[in-house]
Amino acid sequence: MSLRLPDSRAEVLADGRRMSPSAARNAGPIFDVLQGLGLKGRLLEIASGSGLHAAHMAGPLGVTWQPSDVETDNFASIRAWAATTKADILPPVLLDATRPGWAETLPPQDALLLVNLLHLIPVPAAAALLAEVPKALAPGGTACLYGPFLRDGKATSDGDAAFDASLRAQDPAIGYKDLAWVCGQLAQAGVNVVPIEMPANNLMLIARHSHS
Ligand SMILES: C[S@@+](CC[C@H](N)C(=O)[O-])C[C@H]1O[C@@H](n2cnc3c(N)ncnc32)[C@H](O)[C@@H]1O
Repeated sequence: MSLRLPDSRAEVLADGRRMSPSAARNAGPIFDVLQGLGLKGRLLEIASGSGLHAAHMAGPLGVTWQPSDVETDNFASIRAWAATTKADILPPVLLDATRPGWAETLPPQDALLLVNLLHLIPVPAAAALLAEVPKALAPGGTACLYGPFLRDGKATSDGDAAFDASLRAQDPAIGYKDLAWVCGQLAQAGVNVVPIEMPANNLMLIARHSHS
């Protein structure tokens, strides 16, 4: 992913950990939501990036955390972050979450976490990712999708409008997805969504099978 993103200049520590400023900032609020859900068992993190979220959350949540990313360049940082904790963090796996069929290649997940990817990929790729979410979840499982979204087609602040425009200027196929569209994609796939307001106009979408 060679996009120019604000705030993406990550410092790399001597042990290989990347310090992602945005991940460091949103780790606390995201943790608070996940903790409130009482998650247990196996959590698949899609698009782990630096691995900072795994190291901050896996231990206190008490889950078995499976990091993944489409970029194997991220694995050294993910492993280095995992080495800072005794938490149950599995070695990172290669996962292109926009590739149809990936859910069948993994064990059923009690929880899924995706932070800050949907706005960076084209609409068909986001649709393919969202279609896999219910297939990846075990019965009663919970998916947590965090990021910025349009509401009724509009950005929620001038800063969000500018960021969305900067993404679309780099690639007209990408940009913020509309909340209603995302919920519609998940509903088609048999998943109900409860959006939770998060700091800086972001949302956490809590998605569960309609029949759970
Ligand atoms: C903005 S970063 C977010 C990383 C991390 N979730 C965080 O919040 O710090 C986007 C991440 O998505 C990953 N990514 C991009 N396309 C992907 C895909 N198709 N499947 C899985 N991961 C992808 C990138 O490699 C990158 O690590």
